[in-house]
Amino acid sequence: MTGLSDSFQRPINYLRISVTDRCNLRCVYCMPFSGVDELAHEDILRYEEIDTIARAAAEMGIDKVRLTGGEPLVRAGLPELVAMLADIETIDDISLTTNGTMLAKHAAELKKAGLNRVNISLDTLKPERLPSITRSDAELADVLEGIEAARGVGLEPVKLNMVVIPGVNDDEVLDFAAKTIDEEWHVRFIELMPVNGENKAPQFVAASDMKKTIDKLGKLEPCLPSVGNGPAKYFRLPNARGTIGFITPVSEHFCFNCNRLRLTADGKLRPCLMSDYEVDLKEPLRGGVAAEGLKKLIEEAVANKPQQHHIAEGDVPRQRPFSQVGG
Ligand code: 5AD
Ligand code: SF4
Repeated sequence: MTGLSDSFQRPINYLRISVTDRCNLRCVYCMPFSGVDELAHEDILRYEEIDTIARAAAEMGIDKVRLTGGEPLVRAGLPELVAMLADIETIDDISLTTNGTMLAKHAAELKKAGLNRVNISLDTLKPERLPSITRSDAELADVLEGIEAARGVGLEPVKLNMVVIPGVNDDEVLDFAAKTIDEEWHVRFIELMPVNGENKAPQFVAASDMKKTIDKLGKLEPCLPSVGNGPAKYFRLPNARGTIGFITPVSEHFCFNCNRLRLTADGKLRPCLMSDYEVDLKEPLRGGVAAEGLKKLIEEAVANKPQQHHIAEGDVPRQRPFSQVGG
């Protein structure tokens, strides 16, 4: 295998696949207040089409995939797709990003199909706060049950993503950090990224400020990630069972290490979350393009991967909300 790398010599080995743009929640940082137009059913890739793309990408050097949404578990039969991907020999890590509300019922089946692990969005530990953050009637108990179910069937390590939103949940940073002491929780604090011109920078809490808050609990010692090669930097509180990660897209971009491509639910390959540039794979695929043609298109997307984003300067993608790109 030759491996894929972009024009800045970054190795590209990770594909994030958005399987649907739909979600049962409406998180404030993900969807614009005005709502989003849903993609038409026929525009969404079928599992067989996703499989064809993943196989071509795997032959080019992609060895890790993550399923995202919207909320991937709102799409029927997700374990079937997991099984197809698990069948691709050179893919050695299949993970899922989910809001956790429906995970308890699906965890065992997903594990059986070949899913390795899950990241769960958890932005508050206060049940009364979840509805306003998710603009829904989501129940914290369901998410906590999802976390336990995932651990119970061995979809580990379970990583918990908390997007820190100023004035909304930033007062809970300490509570989340404290949780990692007694529980094997791997909490990742994520700086709020501007989306669609809403929540413009610099309205975010910088990781350096979160660390100052957490200092009250003890000295954070750097540690290695348990698994994965994403952008988070990991730490552990003294004698803690779990870990604390920081993802700093705004205060300290990690573009120089970026190894990822994103496939949208409607079959566009996006080399950068923060740029509207995309290469369409769906129409060529439906037009009967051969595997070699598909690989050429994947190469084209990789060759046009931007060096870095410019969100600090207010340059944010406008074409799609995060709910269509999978975060
Ligand atoms: N800023 C930071 N992270 C975001 N996500 C979605 N929108 C944003 C944003 N504006 C990430 C969160 C969420 C996952 C689905 O995508 O981590 O848990
Ligand atoms: Fe749904 Fe996740 Fe977006 Fe929240 S962040 S609306 S759970 S896709």
